[in-house]
Amino acid sequence: MTQEQTVAGFGRDTQSAIYRDGASGRRPVVPTGARALHDAARAAMSAEAWAYVAGSSGNETTFDANRAALDSWRILPRVLRDVAKRDIGIELFGHHYPSPAIAAPIGALELVHRDADLAVARATSELGIPLVFSAQASRSMEEMADVMRDGPRWFQLYWSKSDDVVASMLRRAEGVGAQAIVITLDTHTLGWRPRDLDLGYLPFIHGIGIAQYTSDPAFQALVKERAALPTAGPRPRVTVAAIKTLVDMTRHYPGRFMSNLRSGEPKVAVETFLDVFSRPSLTWAQLSFARKHTNLPIVLKGILHPDDAKLAIKSGVDGIVVSNHGGRQIDGAIGSLDALPAVVDAVNGRAPVMFDSGIRGGSDIVKAVALGAAAVLVGRPWVYGLAIAGQRGVHEVLRNLIAEFDIALGLSGHASVSELSRETLTASDPVPLPRRNRET
Ligand SMILES: Cc1cc2nc3c(=O)[nH]c(=O)nc-3n(C[C@H](O)[C@H](O)[C@H](O)COP(=O)(O)O)c2cc1C
Repeated sequence: MTQEQTVAGFGRDTQSAIYRDGASGRRPVVPTGARALHDAARAAMSAEAWAYVAGSSGNETTFDANRAALDSWRILPRVLRDVAKRDIGIELFGHHYPSPAIAAPIGALELVHRDADLAVARATSELGIPLVFSAQASRSMEEMADVMRDGPRWFQLYWSKSDDVVASMLRRAEGVGAQAIVITLDTHTLGWRPRDLDLGYLPFIHGIGIAQYTSDPAFQALVKERAALPTAGPRPRVTVAAIKTLVDMTRHYPGRFMSNLRSGEPKVAVETFLDVFSRPSLTWAQLSFARKHTNLPIVLKGILHPDDAKLAIKSGVDGIVVSNHGGRQIDGAIGSLDALPAVVDAVNGRAPVMFDSGIRGGSDIVKAVALGAAAVLVGRPWVYGLAIAGQRGVHEVLRNLIAEFDIALGLSGHASVSELSRETLTASDPVPLPRRNRET
């Protein structure tokens, strides 16, 4: 997306291009509506991939609450306001981005498509949309950066038990040109996810989604240390499934398959990862460690309580993402958009507040921005695009979302993102909505 398109009507241009292509017999490669996109992605994915991507925690009531919160607000459009030229760009941490959309960090993408993070990195770069590299990516941040040219990128960190790994990843993120560090706080313990549990499937145990670790020198040192220790405990039973898991781990490990198989290092790496991946004992006091190890803006992801937002500002961070991880962590939690206004009020303009969890269309972005979000992180929809059509699918999903946002912005009587405010919205009666939004 060029600067020219940003101001000239990205939505209308995209819409016209789709209709023109249709006239010569070409259809979009991914459905443009959220429901059809979801259904097409389901058909394109394995049972394990679908469970991992679409699933949420427990009874998935937090997932439902995310959609209910977005649906509980209605846009109250204004007319006759000259919206012929619209500016959908935003400024964040000293950078200009073409729209408020940011690609959320999503792990284990190799489950969905063999090009995984590289397809996403290429697609977001084409659009100029910032991509938040996941700590659980299937490709190292260096490999991703290599295919992105100037494409904007941030890095998301899960705070490891190992200080050396934390410091090393922060250093590498600076090295690959990240413009911000996102520290995700809500996943120090994996949520209770019945869809994955019922399949007994966690990608990391198969060596999927640990590339940021296996490519990290501090992590590699931990693996070597562990490999040198005598193996303790009973030997696992040799079953066909156990052999398949071992082959999976080995296949996903950097280096040559046979020598990895002989050394047993991939298995040690998975065990080391499971040991050090997160630090549930982390407290506010320890955040200063990150500050010491990076000059990049630090953003805390997973804040829902206004008091935590105040503590975040007090601790000197540069931004917040209001998020409940797409309903994947605590069942029965507050809908993310329901938490946004109180957090925005608590922060009171001292840092940008971003938003995610539940964004499925352009009007959702209008609503989040109108309630004070400086930007929104888009998650599952582009993963669905990846499953259906790789890089092209990610590109189209994000392009469509931004086009729809641009059109909704104009149709509601606004010529720029900065014109959106709480006045744009009216609360609808919270009537119980049919469960059609559930990612069945
Ligand atoms: C399959 C999947 C993997 C995810 N992996 C990560 C991750 O590695 N790091 C992270 O901070 N958030 C992760 N998230 C959460 C997203 O960044 C984002 O908060 C969430 O997808 C928003 O909800 P939505 O997709 O329903 O809109 C993941 C989400 C999904 C669906």
